[in-house]
Amino acid sequence: MNKLLGRRLGKIRHRVVVMSGKGGVGKTTVAVNLAIALSATGRSVGILDADVHGPNIPKMLGLNGRGPVMGEHGPIPVTTSGNIKVMSMAFMLPDDDTPVVWRGPVKHTVFKQFLSEVDWGELDYLIVDLPPGTGDEPLSIAQLLGEPLWAVVVTTPQDVALLDSRKSVVFGRTLNMSVLGMVENMSGLTCPHCGERIDLFKTGGGERSSRDLHVPFLGAIPLDPKVVTGGDQGIPICIAAPDSPTASAFLSLALRVQEAIENPSGG
Ligand SMILES: Nc1ncnc2c1ncn2[C@@H]1O[C@H](COP(=O)(O)OP(=O)(O)OP(=O)(O)O)[C@@H](O)[C@H]1O
Ligand SMILES: [Mg+2]
Repeated sequence: MNKLLGRRLGKIRHRVVVMSGKGGVGKTTVAVNLAIALSATGRSVGILDADVHGPNIPKMLGLNGRGPVMGEHGPIPVTTSGNIKVMSMAFMLPDDDTPVVWRGPVKHTVFKQFLSEVDWGELDYLIVDLPPGTGDEPLSIAQLLGEPLWAVVVTTPQDVALLDSRKSVVFGRTLNMSVLGMVENMSGLTCPHCGERIDLFKTGGGERSSRDLHVPFLGAIPLDPKVVTGGDQGIPICIAAPDSPTASAFLSLALRVQEAIENPSGG
């Protein structure tokens, strides 16, 4: 690890990656709401958007059009109104439609710069939002961040998602990550008209897989149209509707993550 990277990481107490084997299961949604919920409990939080091909963090946090400014000790991350520090490839692109066409080694170099040159300052948590799968990005991030590196694996309840997310748990272990457990997102929908629960993508698969793989089950997040509108408008549900059952589910997830990291013996 180079000196500058070591110095920057030395000021970041806990590093947590959010990953999944499958795309579109809600990693970015979990990453932003987890960050907001951790911040609400008084922790200082940063988010590194490690999805260079589909960097959605700025959009979901309403930070489009912003960018880091140069400070005395390096580029200063963009900060949300809730004081969450954010760095993303999206800040570097001329517009939303420009694709990033890079092979793995180039991405590794950019992650290294994002981590070593950006002035993150003192943080309790750095949340890293990964692209789907078990490829270049998680490998680079794990190598750069070192250990301990905590991991939250997001899945949805249907078998095709579980099949891939289970691989993420094993992948995390293979890379010596400390796997905190699995979250089942899009787990059941409450009909806004009659209040009946509809298990659109089935339910319970995340909990079953957690048991099979001997990792904790971190909780279920319901399917909620307010999550979609919140994400599209850049006001995540934990800010837009903090008293909703879905925001409460994210808060419970954050508390479970926090407890596991800050009080590992459970005492
Ligand atoms: N619990 C939920 N209820 C309703 N919609 C959700 C929920 N979680 C995520 N979504 C929506 O699903 C879509 C995909 O979510 P998101 O971008 O967080 O997934 P992802 O796993 O990060 O995707 P990718 O693999 O492309 O990075 C978004 O429109 C988001 O608003
Ligand atoms: Mg994403």
